[in-house]
Amino acid sequence: MTRYHPLEFPPDFLWGAATASHQNEGNNRNNDFWAWEHLPGKIVDGSISGLATDWWDAERGRAEADFDRAEAMGLKTMRLSVEWSRVQPAPNRRDEAAIDRYRQLLLALHQRGIRPMVTLHHFTNPLWLAEQGGWLDDDVVGKFVDYANYVVQKLGDLCDLWCTINEPMVYAYVSHLRGEWSPGAKSFGQTFRVAAAMAQAHVAAAQAIHQFQPQAGVGLVKNIPVFDPARPRHPLDRLVTGWQDRLFNQRILDAVYKGHAKFPLAAKAANPAPGHDDFIGINYYGPHSVRFDLREPFTLFGKNVAPPQAEMWDAPWADRQIDPAGLRRAIKRMAAYGKPVYITENGLADPADTRRPRFLLTHLAAVQRAIAAGADVRGYYYWTFVDNYEWVEGWTTPFGLIALNPETQARTPRKSAALYRDLIAANAITPEIVEQYAPEAIAEIFEA
Ligand code: FCB
Repeated sequence: MTRYHPLEFPPDFLWGAATASHQNEGNNRNNDFWAWEHLPGKIVDGSISGLATDWWDAERGRAEADFDRAEAMGLKTMRLSVEWSRVQPAPNRRDEAAIDRYRQLLLALHQRGIRPMVTLHHFTNPLWLAEQGGWLDDDVVGKFVDYANYVVQKLGDLCDLWCTINEPMVYAYVSHLRGEWSPGAKSFGQTFRVAAAMAQAHVAAAQAIHQFQPQAGVGLVKNIPVFDPARPRHPLDRLVTGWQDRLFNQRILDAVYKGHAKFPLAAKAANPAPGHDDFIGINYYGPHSVRFDLREPFTLFGKNVAPPQAEMWDAPWADRQIDPAGLRRAIKRMAAYGKPVYITENGLADPADTRRPRFLLTHLAAVQRAIAAGADVRGYYYWTFVDNYEWVEGWTTPFGLIALNPETQARTPRKSAALYRDLIAANAITPEIVEQYAPEAIAEIFEA
């Protein structure tokens, strides 16, 4: 007999997995990331998304086969995104066949008892929009709202959980400041203009969705890193930590939830009205320990330097920390806005699956403890279901519960897939499950 009690989840807790159109569908040739990945030197392994996980092709039916696997695993929900470049391949053209395929996919989920959560923008832009300036175009907000309206009118009967934009600050920062994604710019001004436009687009799209589908749940998905000074008492570390948190986290939260848009260098942006969001989506991939460093202007002079005792990811993300307590802090911060929270992404790249079981268990334990302390967390979406194409990391960082060979499209469930199935069946983290899958974590999980 063990002395530990199970950590139980609420009875209607939504256990899920998250995916994104470009990373899964395959042959998304009409967007700016496809163009980018075909430029020399942009993707670390020189790979292209190609067929990705081959979810688009209806005849081969690989999405449907994965949904069978999701059903067998007990998944209650699946997050996927609609590809703007498919449903609106040209400014004045909409593609009903693409809508039909999305309807098939959403229906296939419903038939398996899996509730879809649909994201409208997950990093990629139609080529025509990119040519018009992308998120710097003066009319981008209107264009996004038109697209959102169209999708919701066509798919609204099959979806009642909408994420407008995935990780706007990550998109703005990586595309317009680090220059690592299309259009490859390195400009603070552009970064904040894009952030301001995305905040406005979110608020306006949420309003449009509610007009058409008043009962729908609508939210923004925000990557929430927790920022801490590397040297807690060092004034310069504290100063730059504050800058990073304000500019990466707080400004857009203020814009969206309070109607105060104060992005530096983006004076043109009008203040959006405070949004009427139904939920907050948190993506969590670890904390940042910030050390003042004059050589790092692009991070506002704050270098992410993990403390010596920190547990780290493997290469190529060896500078990322593993810290489930940070997830609990992120939930606490966001739950204070008084809206339900979904963990819309959390995951680890771990091809051998030696570390993922403990990762999954400790992060889910953090979620459970946040709920027990009063946070209204409705669901958790593991990133991701089947290994998919990871942007500039190409195929080098497999996150899946199920391994994929992109050449043969063969799927092999990892041990973590069985763990997730058992957790869902128990609706709890039980001592038996921990003993079976990650015995080394038993004290960490139950004595936290
Ligand atoms: C998130 C993205 C998702 C995937 C994971 C690993 O920032 O939303 O598409 O790249 O990271």
